[in-house]
Amino acid sequence: MDIRGGNISVTQTEADWLVVSVTEPVEITGALEKLDHALGGLVMRLKASNDLTGKLASIIPLRGVTGIAARRLLFVGLGKAEELTAGRLDKALVTAARAISDKPATRVAFVVPSSSVGVISPSKFACATAVAIQVGSLGQDLFRTERNRYPFASVEIISADGGSPGLGDAIQRGRIVGQAINLTRDLVNRPPQEITPVGFAIRAEAVAAECGLRCEVFDLNRLKQERMESLLAVSQGSPQPPRMVIVEHHGGGPNAPRLALVGKGVTFDSGGLSLKPSEGMVTMKCDMAGAATVLGALSAVARLKLPVNVIGYMGLVENMTGGAAFKLGDILTARNGVTIEVLNTDAEGRLVLADVLSYAVDAGADKIIDLATLTGACVVALGEDVAGAFSNDQSWCDSVMAAASTVGEDLWQLPMWDMFDELIKGDVADIKNTGGRWGGAITAARFLKRFVADTPWVHLDIAGPAFASSNKPHREGGATGFGVKSLIELVRRFGSLSDDC
Ligand code: BES
Ligand code: MN
Ligand code: ZN
Repeated sequence: MDIRGGNISVTQTEADWLVVSVTEPVEITGALEKLDHALGGLVMRLKASNDLTGKLASIIPLRGVTGIAARRLLFVGLGKAEELTAGRLDKALVTAARAISDKPATRVAFVVPSSSVGVISPSKFACATAVAIQVGSLGQDLFRTERNRYPFASVEIISADGGSPGLGDAIQRGRIVGQAINLTRDLVNRPPQEITPVGFAIRAEAVAAECGLRCEVFDLNRLKQERMESLLAVSQGSPQPPRMVIVEHHGGGPNAPRLALVGKGVTFDSGGLSLKPSEGMVTMKCDMAGAATVLGALSAVARLKLPVNVIGYMGLVENMTGGAAFKLGDILTARNGVTIEVLNTDAEGRLVLADVLSYAVDAGADKIIDLATLTGACVVALGEDVAGAFSNDQSWCDSVMAAASTVGEDLWQLPMWDMFDELIKGDVADIKNTGGRWGGAITAARFLKRFVADTPWVHLDIAGPAFASSNKPHREGGATGFGVKSLIELVRRFGSLSDDC
């Protein structure tokens, strides 16, 4: 999408929609004052009649306006300036972008305030606008003849005071981040017959080539050589061969620390022989969202040329019920020698991650974060919009939580007490792959902990927020791209770079 920073006045900008943000209470200064003059006091009247309130994510579309160069005007509420956060701003701007992207070939202009709104600086505002425009105008309707959403034909991001010095860089950063989120969403929204392990790996190679990432793909033989028996067991029941994709960005020096991003990439989770009922299976193309988030984030890290060493590991399998499928009672020896008793083939994500995590450790990761649509239990605990965080190192976990909170993604830390190990202690092997119903998100995390040795590690269970069941004004249903922004921000912090977006 063509996104430019313009330096034209708000009244003279030609567009199908001009989008202007309003705080609560409404203050008619800056862009609003200019518009009010040009529109003959319309803004004052809307305020007086209480139609324009500035409440968070409220929108007032005005069609057929005269007196300004734009054909239509959209006011969007930001809520109270002192309460504005990255998350609230995102909600407001995506709502606006979604509301005006229902027709093809729309030219839009978004106005960025000329001074900070609460803690949000003009350049942060511009960056968030560029992200929201891209995310809000892409739907999950990839295969509909008549679409619900259409990408904009052109976008101008203009400053309320006419000039836009310094906004250009912020807009470019926002473009890159928005593209990364949409890449992740696209991969998750595509059907499982297309995004098989091989299909995912092909897309990853193309993305890597475009962004300047090093990319290596392990095939079945290589995975066998690496003794990744736990991952391989999951893929046994499928005619689709497994893959592990490794993408590397070496932006730091050779001696700079390495951050590993690990993603669960189950391209379809039928549950295996512990078969899921249809209601639970219907969205299971989303079970590779962790891997897609890692790839999306790395694409942005590379294109932003962040001076940091980051390596992404994506474990890709399909969990099916074929005649060769792994069985309840099977004993697997993971890559690091830990033996696992399979009690439920639907607890497959941890089996995939076990081997990928231990590979990342052996490859010399200094810090690890993994993302996985791992447990329904985490959705029961935290709801559909919040990811669970689990860690073996509080200070690393604090960094991850701080990064997520800066970008407005909601994480909640759950305990990792030793006593939970009791629930996954094996009778025949070292550990069982399920600890039963109670504390299911935590026992899954305690299972993963066995494969990261002493490396500082955070596990994010994104089973809730990765995939949305329905449309909301501020969010398209389907894949959300949750986690991409947090990972990019985490990489910045890992390289001691300031958050500038
Ligand atoms: N992929 C699922 C978890 C999931 C559930 C993701 C809902 C997204 C939305 C995972 O592989 C799974 O099936 N977990 C089981 C674990 C159980 C068998 C111990 C679950 O949560 O029921
Ligand atoms: Mn499963
Ligand atoms: Zn799964």
